[in-house]
Amino acid sequence: MNDFKQDFSASLKFIPKILVVVLVISLFSSYIFQFSLSIIILPAFLSLITAFVSVYFIIQRKRLELEKIREVIQKIRTNAFTSADEISLSKDLVKLEEEIKSMFLKTKEDIANLKKIEKYRTEFLGNVSHELRTPIFAIQGYIETLLDGALEDKNVNRNFLEKANRHTQNLNSLLNDLIDISMIESGQMLFSYRYFNAWEFLEGIVNELKPHAEKKNLDLILLQFDKTLQLLGDKQRLKQAMTNLIVNAIKYTETGKVEVGIEEEEQFGSVFVNDTGIGISVSDLNRIFERFYRVDKDRSRELGGTGLGLAIVKHIVEAHGSKIEVKSQVGKGSNFSFKLKK
Ligand SMILES: Nc1ncnc2c1ncn2[C@@H]1O[C@H](COP(=O)(O)OP(=O)(O)O)[C@@H](O)[C@H]1O
Ligand SMILES: [Mg+2]
Repeated sequence: MNDFKQDFSASLKFIPKILVVVLVISLFSSYIFQFSLSIIILPAFLSLITAFVSVYFIIQRKRLELEKIREVIQKIRTNAFTSADEISLSKDLVKLEEEIKSMFLKTKEDIANLKKIEKYRTEFLGNVSHELRTPIFAIQGYIETLLDGALEDKNVNRNFLEKANRHTQNLNSLLNDLIDISMIESGQMLFSYRYFNAWEFLEGIVNELKPHAEKKNLDLILLQFDKTLQLLGDKQRLKQAMTNLIVNAIKYTETGKVEVGIEEEEQFGSVFVNDTGIGISVSDLNRIFERFYRVDKDRSRELGGTGLGLAIVKHIVEAHGSKIEVKSQVGKGSNFSFKLKK
């Protein structure tokens, strides 16, 4: 009833306007067609009523539409809709309905993304604390044992100090990798791309890592390719990626060799690191680029791994507009590669 009164009084506001229009039309037609005003009084009156009724219904319809829009907005605000299909307005408001639907979907997507980031962050913090705790506990353990008397025991004192030292080195690598990954992910790591001589670049890295491979009786070989080949990239970052890949290849290979090289394509050079190591199973292949993911956690830690190496490699390679590829067979070996522009 209230609505009726509201709509009625809103329509009343239009009466003067309608009256003026009807009056002007009547006067105009009586002047043009030369007939008495009284003949058109009745039709004029009828049109006045018709106009009033039409205005009343139009206003009522608009009010209902607005009410519906308010209801939809309120439902979105209180999360009452589960899908955009539940949102519906009258047929005249198709465009508005579409806009509201896409706004609803966008908000839903934004919230889902925020939740994902939050989960990611919590997981990352949990992993970091866990990874930090392992070496710190170990170092603490060795120092306490030494202080409790092992310091005087010539059979173990040196050994315990060496172990504590190895764990501090691990801690240091972990912190360095963490700094790198947070710099990359927050966009603070700047890349500068220049052409460089690919042969000299790889030769330098291979020579640096040779002693590492020799300790395990492995051959670390740089395969021949065009010594004048120039590739485009950030040499310093690529060195970090290549070192990670080659160190992994050495770490996860017991016998055989590690081969490094470049296969030339028309527009690219495909840089690869092949090993004859333990290999990676299909189910692990999808996950090894995740931060902190290791196939064998204890083995990786034992070898001074942080579980962040491949995550860093992936970021660096992707910053070059490329993709890191991996093929592997358990017990046979692995092949990591990525392309750089010539
Ligand atoms: N060449 C490889 N051969 C076999 N397994 C590998 C190789 N490279 C990486 N992996 C597996 O992927 C995991 C993640 O590698 P990475 O991120 O470098 O961490 P980590 O610090 O453990 O080396 C390793 O723990 C290992 O299980
Ligand atoms: Mg590694």
